[in-house]
Amino acid sequence: MSLFRKKNVEHMLAGAQQAGLKKALGALDLTFLGIGAIIGTGIFVLTGTGAVQAGPALMLSFVVAAIACCFAALAYAEFASTIPVAGSIYTYSYATLGELAAWIIGWDLMLEYGLATSAVSVGWSGYLQSLLAGFGVSLPDALTAAPGAVPGHETLFNLPAFLVMMAITALLSVGVRESTRINNVMVAIKVTVVLLVIAVGVFHVNPANWHPFMPNGWNGVFGAAAVMFFAFIGFDSVSSAAEEVKNPKRDLPIGIIASLIVCAILYVVVAAVVTGIVPSAQFANISHPVSYALQVAGQKWVAGFIDLGAVLGMLTVILVMSYGQTRVIFAMSRDGLLPGALSRVHPRFATPFLTTWLVGIFFGLIGALVPLNVLAELINIGTLAAFSMVSVAVLILRRTHPHLPRAFRCPGVPVVPLLAVASCVFLMLNLQRTTWIAFVVWLVIGLVVYFGYSRRRSLLAN
Ligand code: ALA
Repeated sequence: MSLFRKKNVEHMLAGAQQAGLKKALGALDLTFLGIGAIIGTGIFVLTGTGAVQAGPALMLSFVVAAIACCFAALAYAEFASTIPVAGSIYTYSYATLGELAAWIIGWDLMLEYGLATSAVSVGWSGYLQSLLAGFGVSLPDALTAAPGAVPGHETLFNLPAFLVMMAITALLSVGVRESTRINNVMVAIKVTVVLLVIAVGVFHVNPANWHPFMPNGWNGVFGAAAVMFFAFIGFDSVSSAAEEVKNPKRDLPIGIIASLIVCAILYVVVAAVVTGIVPSAQFANISHPVSYALQVAGQKWVAGFIDLGAVLGMLTVILVMSYGQTRVIFAMSRDGLLPGALSRVHPRFATPFLTTWLVGIFFGLIGALVPLNVLAELINIGTLAAFSMVSVAVLILRRTHPHLPRAFRCPGVPVVPLLAVASCVFLMLNLQRTTWIAFVVWLVIGLVVYFGYSRRRSLLAN
């Protein structure tokens, strides 16, 4: 039964009052935090892969992925507004599904946020190098990518990817206030750049390029949806900030849902524009598909601005993902499931300083040494699994704690959470076999750690 021991929800709420993290964020900060986490490598880099797979029907792939996210987001928002404590769905599941499930979800989130920071740092490095190439600057081959990442090139270490992780880590370690302020500026730049793509690109669309609309049929559409799901990852990290929000009951649901809707609309329009400018098959092996489309359209200056915007925009993704990662570890450590040093709050900066640096260096090295395709494979499956579990959890909490005050109630219970589970599992089934194997291996390692360490150290147990 100890596997199912649960935290007391009311005690958690009381405990959150004393955690010592600064309460500095409002609804607009959260929406920006969400957009900062969402728009990034997905739209800027993976759009090319998606277009090859789905053709112009990539628009539909985005819609499919967005629908899955919307269901999950509604469930998320209910949780976020009910139990506003650090740690995201890890914490929520601790109160509903019990310790083992919470551990699995926390372990899952480490895969999601951690590898996502690495993956985005690699995407960032690619765009930076393409931007620098425009000025005639290039790095020695060995320092441009992970070993084996570029066929025919002796690459050893992705230096820009590692350095950007160190810079972001430094920002985060000195305090959320400073980081979100910078985040807000960058999000403004990023959204402006995406709107620029749309505003300029729309005049170069040749509707003939939208035929055939679905060159690989529905398989192509769903396969691309499972990949493009990556482009939406991040809205959930808003809920990880719960303990640092001024008015979580109102602000969290607004932040999550607003950021998701804004991004979904932008993605569908960008997909329509770029596949309307360039025949979809032509995107194969293009690492900067969005600016490429504008180059093809003869808009070289706009393309340059897009490169710059992508470089800045991806910075914020790394920032918010790293933030979510440190807060999940913080919460797991505070619960005794990970060593206590990881939840120590810095006396001056009021941040989990040690955790921030450990995570930054570890995933910085992963980004420097592991190719992007290997990383990207795993991120979606971990996230989709976690989303399915939170949707189940919202149903359980409705039964076990029907009277808990909920600032936001997920509409259409139980249908909406069940649709969330169904759509997440459906997308998971569209991922590759190797991804499934690696995911199972990661879970097994997590279980070994849980039964070997965390179970006995758990605060709840003692
Ligand atoms: N959604 C984030 C991105 O597209 C992870 O980079």
